[in-house]
Amino acid sequence: MNTSEHRVVCPGSFDPVSNGHLDIIGRASRLYDEVIVAVLVNQSKSGLFPHEERIEMLEAVTADFPNVRIASFQGLLVDFCRDEGVSVVVRGLRAVTDFDYELKMAQMNYGLSGLETLFMPTNPLYSFLSSSLIKDVAKWGGDVSAHVPPLVVERLKAKLRA
Ligand code: PNS
Repeated sequence: MNTSEHRVVCPGSFDPVSNGHLDIIGRASRLYDEVIVAVLVNQSKSGLFPHEERIEMLEAVTADFPNVRIASFQGLLVDFCRDEGVSVVVRGLRAVTDFDYELKMAQMNYGLSGLETLFMPTNPLYSFLSSSLIKDVAKWGGDVSAHVPPLVVERLKAKLRA
């Protein structure tokens, strides 16, 4: 096995990180020597949380995983993975509705640079979760404490109160 195959990238927007993301990151961290969680810095699409805060929250909630590192990237995922010397990304699949988009992305990335994508089935406990749904529920005062870590509950409250 090539040494780079002991390390994987978990890319995403993480706006904000949910328990579903954490499940995938944690499971990947048990399979690989190192997991790099790569937060997309999207200049054209502003999220609820600035990327600095998304990174800070990810760092806090993954602190118990010694082999997980948080990074950010702009531009193409394949370029970030090449710079990091990583040839595999892990993506969670929640339901068949994710598959169409994820397959296209995986095929494009493979065509661009040979970057491989491994799909991990989401734990059914989290298969209905998405960051946008969580933000919508939180915005209207709904309880999202079962879906995100306590730190994120607090940050959502602070952000949406402001
Ligand atoms: O959490 P998300 O928003 O579903 O993650 C999507 C992400 C960040 C993995 C994807 O949009 C991405 O890789 N963007 C970087 C730009 C890029 O490489 N685009 C071509 C992929 S086919």
